[in-house]
Amino acid sequence: MRPFSIAVSGKGGTGKTTLSALLVRALVDAGRTPVLAVDADPNSNLHEALGVRLHETLGCMRESEFRKNIPPGVARNDYIELCFRRALVEEKGFDLVAMGRPEGSGCYCFANDLLKTCMTLLRRDYRFIVIDNEAGMEHLSRGTIGIPDMIVIVSDPGTRGMRTAVRIRDLARSLGLSSVPVFLVINRFKGTDASAVAWEPFGVIPEDPEIEAAEIAGLPVGSLREGSIARKAVSQMAEKIIAIANEKIRD
Ligand SMILES: Nc1ncnc2c1ncn2[C@@H]1O[C@H](COP(=O)(O)OP(=O)(O)O)[C@@H](O)[C@H]1O
Ligand SMILES: [Mg+2]
Repeated sequence: MRPFSIAVSGKGGTGKTTLSALLVRALVDAGRTPVLAVDADPNSNLHEALGVRLHETLGCMRESEFRKNIPPGVARNDYIELCFRRALVEEKGFDLVAMGRPEGSGCYCFANDLLKTCMTLLRRDYRFIVIDNEAGMEHLSRGTIGIPDMIVIVSDPGTRGMRTAVRIRDLARSLGLSSVPVFLVINRFKGTDASAVAWEPFGVIPEDPEIEAAEIAGLPVGSLREGSIARKAVSQMAEKIIAIANEKIRD
């Protein structure tokens, strides 16, 4: 099985985690399981948005301990897979893994290499992978998440947000990801001026008071009621993504 992976990017606070969580839910609801949710933001909070508990991140594996702990006779990759499985949170229809932050100072090569191996080992088990990235393009530029099938840039409707979206798109291209389609999603749209739109948006998520209510009540955004405007908008987006994935499989 070759999974279809979606990297969600954008500047801080635009709604990457919100979209990622709603997208995971929408893909599960559409029966496109199993889905892997990857939290690639060092300040992991995708689990909260999905309402699941996280006990370990991959980043906390240190090189020294890692080498020391490999049981005799166990191959390196088998051990990586074992560690990975330990960090994996299994839910109905989806699993979640958080990359966390590599510990200590100095070279991150080991952690990056480990993440890369993990992702390669993991991929084969899933139909869809949704990656919630940090504001930068760190994991995309370091190659830890591999080459995604599509990049979704989340932006607020304002001019400044759009400028950032264009910058991220250009950055993705300069990182050798020019073959990857980059889509724009406008979030928190209030039905007003859309003249600033940088390029034809793939989806628009309206400002949804139910998201704010969930935030205040400390409830996971992933469990918004089905009829909520944000959930409806993301379900439509999921349908489009499924169609693109089907198209890609046929090719
Ligand atoms: N469509 C929306 N309507 C209302 N509030 C939203 C919407 N999308 C995101 N938010 C709120 O905006 C804040 C930032 O969203 P978040 O997904 O955490 O952004 P990011 O992951 O990009 O930093 C959160 O408080 C979230 O509840
Ligand atoms: Mg986030």
